[in-house]
Formats: sequence, C-alpha cells, structure tokens
Amino acid sequence: MNEASATTEIGVYEAMRSLRAVRRLRPDPVPDDVLYRVVEAASWAPTGGNVQPWRVVVVRDTGKLVQLGGLYAERWLAYSKQHRAQLEGAPEAVRAQNEKMLRAGDHLAEHFHELPALLVFCFDPTRMAITDAKLERISVVGGASVYPAVENALLACRAEGLGCVLTTLLCECEPRVLELLAIPEPWATAAAVPVGYPIGRGHGPIRRRPVEKLAFADTWGEAWS
Ligand SMILES: Cc1cc2nc3c(=O)[nH]c(=O)nc-3n(C[C@H](O)[C@H](O)[C@H](O)COP(=O)(O)O)c2cc1C
Repeated sequence: MNEASATTEIGVYEAMRSLRAVRRLRPDPVPDDVLYRVVEAASWAPTGGNVQPWRVVVVRDTGKLVQLGGLYAERWLAYSKQHRAQLEGAPEAVRAQNEKMLRAGDHLAEHFHELPALLVFCFDPTRMAITDAKLERISVVGGASVYPAVENALLACRAEGLGCVLTTLLCECEPRVLELLAIPEPWATAAAVPVGYPIGRGHGPIRRRPVEKLAFADTWGEAWS
C-alpha cells in the first residue's frame, strides 16, 4: 500500500480489527507530514470538559532515544524475565504465543535507540476531570482524558501503514523521562508510543474475547445479543 495515501484506503473497523502491537520497526525515517497526521488524529480525541490536558513530545533526537532506550531496556528485561518465569509449566501453545511476543519485545528494547520516532504522551494531573478521585479504589477516570488521544494516534499509525505499540514501562522511571525531555511541573507521563514502518507484516489479526463474554444486557451477567 502506498504509505502516503493509506489514510484514504483503510476503514476504521478494519484499522481497529488489525491494530495489534508491532514491536519490530525499521529505522527508516517517517516523513514529517505523516507524523503530523498521526499527532493531528490524537488532537481530535475527546477529553473531560474539552480541556485537552495532554501534550505529546515527538522524540527523534538520537541522543535522547539512546538514553530512553537504556531506561526502557532495563524495565523490559525485568518484565520479560518475570513473564518468562511465569510461563514455565504453561501449555506449549501458550508458551509459544507468549514467547513470540517476548522476542518481539526483546527486539524493540534492543533497537529502541534506532526508532524513527517515539511519541511520549504527557498529561496535566491538575487539569483533569477526575470524577472518581474520592472513591476507595484506584482512580482511572483521569486516564480517559489522555488515552483516547493515544488510541487515536495508534489508529492513525495503522492507517498510515506505520507499526506502533502502546508502552508504559517508561512511566516506572518517570522522573528520569521528565528530566531528559525537559517536561515541566506538573506534567506527568502516560505512555510512550514507538512508531516506525514495520519490519515484517506489521499490523494484522488480533486475539480478543468475544463480545458475548464482554457485554451484558441490562444486568451484570445477563447475556446480551
Ligand atoms: C496499558 C498498556 C500498557 C502496555 N505497555 C507495554 C509496554 O510497556 N511494552 C510493550 O511492549 N507492550 C506494551 N503494551 C502492549 C500490550 O502488551 C499489547 O497490546 C497486548 O499484549 C495485546 O497484544 P496485541 O495488541 O498485539 O493483540 C501495553 C498495552 C497497554 C494497553
């Protein structure tokens, strides 16, 4: 598919249905106009009160990517080690499936510094509509004013023929990321999205629970549809 005209060639359902994580990315540059369209798509996302309390740092500087890559690789190593240990004793099919994902993740961690672009999504916690802040459980509503923008960017990448994956491991070392990218207070980080043209097939079929397991009719647990 012609990358520049891809936006006109894929329907939104097809984009969503095939938006799997793509972690093997080519270092080839992504044209500015393509990246602009991806970020513009993010800007169309809804936010509480239309405040848009998010920003994105488009990282393309090699020195910064090297440093972010070092931080990411440390976290990925710890995560993948634990994940591989948990897989011991799992059925072969499950192990094979997960190992495929982990190897792709290893590749991303090893080649992070070669990414043509990394989108670091930030949010302002002081300007978010957080209607669940006072409940005695973890608060999630604030995320709804930044993650729709991230998802829009992912969908736009898909439409542009770009591989991408939503990552959050860098949030574990947020102070280092804030410093490295000169992100001022009170901004914080929500996600980092590596972007690039895929090495292999890129996006494709996804595995998700069927609607019947996810949706209920009027009452929790009542079959719908
Ligand atoms: C909140 C969130 C955090 C994630 N963090 C990472 C991450 O740090 N690194 C990574 O490689 N993938 C990350 N992922 C990608 C998921 O692992 C991936 O979407 C999931 O395994 C489903 O795979 P699929 O999209 O290819 O079907 C994250 C996804 C979400 C939604």
